[in-house]
Amino acid sequence: MKRYISRITNWPTPFPFRNLNFFMVDKERNFGSKPTKEPINNEEGNQISDMLIDGFGRKHTYLRISLTERCNLRCQYCMPAEGVDLTPSPKLLTHNEILRLANLFVTSGVDKIRLTGGEPTVRKDIHDICSNLSSLKGLKTLAVTTNGIILAKKLPMLKQCGLTNLNISLDTLVPSKFEFMTRRKGHHKVIESINAAIDLGYNPVKVNCVVMRGFNDDEICDFVNLTVDKPINVRFIEFMPFDGNVWNVKKLIPYSEMLDTVAKKFPTLKRLCDHPTETAKNFQIDGHVGTVSFVTSMTEHFCAGCNRLRLLADGNLKVCLFGPSEVSLRDPLRSGAGDEELREIIGAAVKRKKASHAGMFDIAKTANRPMIHIGG
Ligand code: GTP
Ligand code: 5AD
Ligand code: SF4
Repeated sequence: MKRYISRITNWPTPFPFRNLNFFMVDKERNFGSKPTKEPINNEEGNQISDMLIDGFGRKHTYLRISLTERCNLRCQYCMPAEGVDLTPSPKLLTHNEILRLANLFVTSGVDKIRLTGGEPTVRKDIHDICSNLSSLKGLKTLAVTTNGIILAKKLPMLKQCGLTNLNISLDTLVPSKFEFMTRRKGHHKVIESINAAIDLGYNPVKVNCVVMRGFNDDEICDFVNLTVDKPINVRFIEFMPFDGNVWNVKKLIPYSEMLDTVAKKFPTLKRLCDHPTETAKNFQIDGHVGTVSFVTSMTEHFCAGCNRLRLLADGNLKVCLFGPSEVSLRDPLRSGAGDEELREIIGAAVKRKKASHAGMFDIAKTANRPMIHIGG
């Protein structure tokens, strides 16, 4: 496996990121309209409470809920080799507490919930959680981001319980590399889950691939080939720094470089219009059933269109993936706070949200949680 690591090359600073405007059809982002007292609606037409609108006018209608800190893999880019400290179970949100908070967010205007982890499918009550969440009036999208290890068997039931969208992580098409990166076996199970998702009609099935120099950068075009005849949206993700993941700028493959690699091999690659709140820049190749995207958090952040809040498994609310500040919703909830009091706490945290993250070098130096606690 040393072979993969020894190919890491040096970079000059500052990096020669190229201007990509010639690829852009729609580069408009939803730069903050100022908060207004007029009623504001989400895409379902439901009113968005002021609690969800930050000082830059961003409307936070997408809640990511981490269901657990546990995972059945040990991905190197997500957690340190020695593992992470787990929050004792009595301090984790219960099923009912998750529902109470989710209901509060949805009645305030959230219309999309994504379940994350750790690995959300290891949570035994995930079916019940999905059933209850999907019945919340006003919720349009119930999604999961999963490593796909134990998904295939659970998926038909999850679909029945209202799961609408599925993102599955897969960083390599080579089983031995999978074992190296995840420190576990199971490559074939992930492929099985992707196929099960396609068979059940999820379209697109999003495949998240974190690209790291010297590990899987030689597989970019192989991943793109999956889109020829499958309804897969392959998403190449820039490697991001989190506590304990030994981030190193030399391992980061910038968007510009990934795009060059794909465009050279697939000259009909065309930029699609992206929704202003999307994390991904989306592309289509002539004749391909699926699509190709890039999540460019490091070299072209998309904070201006951010609509995401995070509820962690321990009940902390995190308003920015890279912002270290968190506020507990569990503690006031357990001390009997009513919805109004909780709304005030949430609203104050949202109002403190910064315009954008601090840039990759500052992020790499700032203490944050390991990715496994945040769930992406
Ligand atoms: P869709 O809802 O399908 O668009 O997925 P998503 O991109 O919101 O979620 P997913 O869990 O698939 O995450 C894909 C990548 O985007 C991961 O590397 C996440 O860490 C990253 N990501 C998700 N949300 C944010 C965000 O708010 N900020 C940044 N910088 N990255 C994010
Ligand atoms: N950089 C970029 N993406 C990451 N993910 C996990 N850790 C990192 C990282 N360091 C991705 C996972 C998953 C999503 C939630 O976040 O692959 O698809
Ligand atoms: Fe939103 Fe923070 Fe992500 Fe930027 S880094 S898109 S502000 S969560």
